[in-house]
Amino acid sequence: MTYAILGSGAIGTALARRFVAKGIDIAIANTKGLESLAGLVRELGSNVTPVTASEVLQADVVILAVPFDAVQNAVKDVEWDSRIVVDATNAVDLPAFTPRDLKGRLSTEIVADAVPGARVVKAFNTLQAATLGADPAVLGGRRVLFVSGDDPSARLAVVGLVERLGFAAVDLGGIAEGGRAQQFDGGVSGKEFVQLG
Ligand SMILES: NC(=O)c1ccc[n+]([C@@H]2O[C@H](COP(=O)([O-])OP(=O)(O)OC[C@H]3O[C@@H](n4cnc5c(N)ncnc54)[C@H](OP(=O)(O)O)[C@@H]3O)[C@@H](O)[C@H]2O)c1
Repeated sequence: MTYAILGSGAIGTALARRFVAKGIDIAIANTKGLESLAGLVRELGSNVTPVTASEVLQADVVILAVPFDAVQNAVKDVEWDSRIVVDATNAVDLPAFTPRDLKGRLSTEIVADAVPGARVVKAFNTLQAATLGADPAVLGGRRVLFVSGDDPSARLAVVGLVERLGFAAVDLGGIAEGGRAQQFDGGVSGKEFVQLG
């Protein structure tokens, strides 16, 4: 299974840090290009491979860590062949930091429309980047990450990845329920939970 992150900003870097901490190879891309990622590789080591955005989009599991408004353009014209796309974005208006008015739609439904043929899972979007990038082992337990998606096998694959990265995964089911809870104006957004024991 190959993993790749589109976006090397706060969330992309935080996630790359967790992959490296567990010795899992991760490819990463941004818009500025390969040279701009040299510092990240120097810091995190050889588990991180800078690639082009189009190479990222060929991984078995593609994690979208770009601004919500950038998704449509960033993923166009890709043949997904049932590969997994993990939506780590939040539909937020900046700098107000208020939820985007999506006219009754869920943010992950809109992301899913942009990646036809992919199996979309929502994850990695509920914690602040600094928290996501930190060691998830806290208070004698593990920090919780939520996972939702309409394809059960894709959802389970991401649950497995979340656990492999050292977090406690909570499966929230389909996008209609779980995605709603996870999105920026949802019940678990921005909240930190720890599974003890
Ligand atoms: N920051 C948080 O604490 C946080 C928490 C939860 C969720 N989120 C969500 O996570 C997503 C990323 O947030 P962030 O804070 O990491 O943003 P960020 O620091 O601004 O980083 C965005 C990254 O996306 C890249 N990018 C933009 N358009 C791209 C494209 N077309 N192709 C490839 N890369 C592209 C940028 O590349 P360049 O730098 O080369 O332009 C940059 O590396 C957003 O949807 C945000 O709402 C953020």
